[in-house]
Amino acid sequence: MRREDYRMDRDAALRLLERAPYVHMASTDGEGRPVLRALHAVVCDGWLCFHGAPVGEKCSVLGREAVFSAEEVIAEVPSYWSDPVLACPATTLYLSAHVRGVVDEITVPETRARVLQALMGRFQPEGGHAPVDVADPRYTKQVAGLLVAGVRLDALDGKGKLAQNRTPPKIVALVENLWSRGRDGDARAAALVMRANATVPRPARFVGPEGVALEPAFEDDALPDVCALLRDTYWHAGRSPDADLADAHRASAAWVGARDEHGAVIASARAVSDGVRYAYVADVVVHPAWRGRGVGAAVMTLLLDHPRVRRVSRVELATRDAMAFYAAMGFVETGRAANGAYERVTMALRRG
Ligand SMILES: CC(C)(COP(=O)(O)OP(=O)(O)OC[C@H]1O[C@@H](n2cnc3c(N)ncnc32)[C@H](O)[C@@H]1OP(=O)(O)O)[C@@H](O)C(=O)NCCC(=O)NCCS
Repeated sequence: MRREDYRMDRDAALRLLERAPYVHMASTDGEGRPVLRALHAVVCDGWLCFHGAPVGEKCSVLGREAVFSAEEVIAEVPSYWSDPVLACPATTLYLSAHVRGVVDEITVPETRARVLQALMGRFQPEGGHAPVDVADPRYTKQVAGLLVAGVRLDALDGKGKLAQNRTPPKIVALVENLWSRGRDGDARAAALVMRANATVPRPARFVGPEGVALEPAFEDDALPDVCALLRDTYWHAGRSPDADLADAHRASAAWVGARDEHGAVIASARAVSDGVRYAYVADVVVHPAWRGRGVGAAVMTLLLDHPRVRRVSRVELATRDAMAFYAAMGFVETGRAANGAYERVTMALRRG
């Protein structure tokens, strides 16, 4: 297996750095002793930046070569999925991003203020403070006094260890095992393994009508397309800002969908769920060009089999006119009520 096969593209590495709750910095101090720090950092103006002890105090790594890294564990893969006896095949799927370079102090006041504001925006997104602005005299002292430093993002590298070293049948088995184990994060792990091994045929459960790719877990990169699909639906039209839709999708226990052969999002559905007793299905939508071709039914089947939904004894939803669509999956009508311009029909699927 060549290192190249695990390489993550630069954008994905950047996104990993941007969403990391903290990064590690490894370097050496003036005496050549190793230094390891966990830092809050932000990507700003082509740099990975952080702030530290006030200017004047010693910062042991300024001017030194350092490596910064962020990691995300995707899934633990137990040995018994590949070998019934030996422990050695146990492994971890993960993503990591590294930046290597010389740590430099950022001295331009405007840039320093921008970095400090970016750090606030990232780690105190709710606001509650005056924006850090170089022109605001209340910040003059802090902007001048804090150490603001960083490393250029020129040498940014990412690695995604996502079973690229396995044979196609083993990749298919891994994806199936992740889906059926269904621990938190396993649906996403299955999606990432399929994406990283795109030339390997997908397990049948992740192939929809006309060969469309059914996705066990959507994440942020699908949001613009999903919001565009939902913007025109009768239940969101003109009233749900994209930011609210994005938050609702991110917070859902299950968010699945479908992509066409070019990777474009053509369907999406989500559920909030306690995993056992109750789930609520929402925002089921298929791209107009794909309606009536079985994609909606395939996406709903996947959603109902999602690890966070499959054990749930009562799944509810509401619709205006798609009762027959859901009835075919076992949902029965539970009530009707006026809802502004239309009548809202509630339905439930009872299991167990
Ligand atoms: C409703 C929707 C998700 C269905 O997806 P789809 O891909 O068009 O549906 P499918 O092709 O998988 O249809 C499966 C079955 O449901 C039926 N069906 C689909 N949409 C239906 C609807 N709105 N009302 C009644 N039956 C419907 C189909 O006729 C088909 O029946 P069949 O198996 O007997 O041929 C899709 O049409 C859509 O996005 N509509 C606009 C948004 C919407 O209304 N979402 C649902 C909100 S509750």
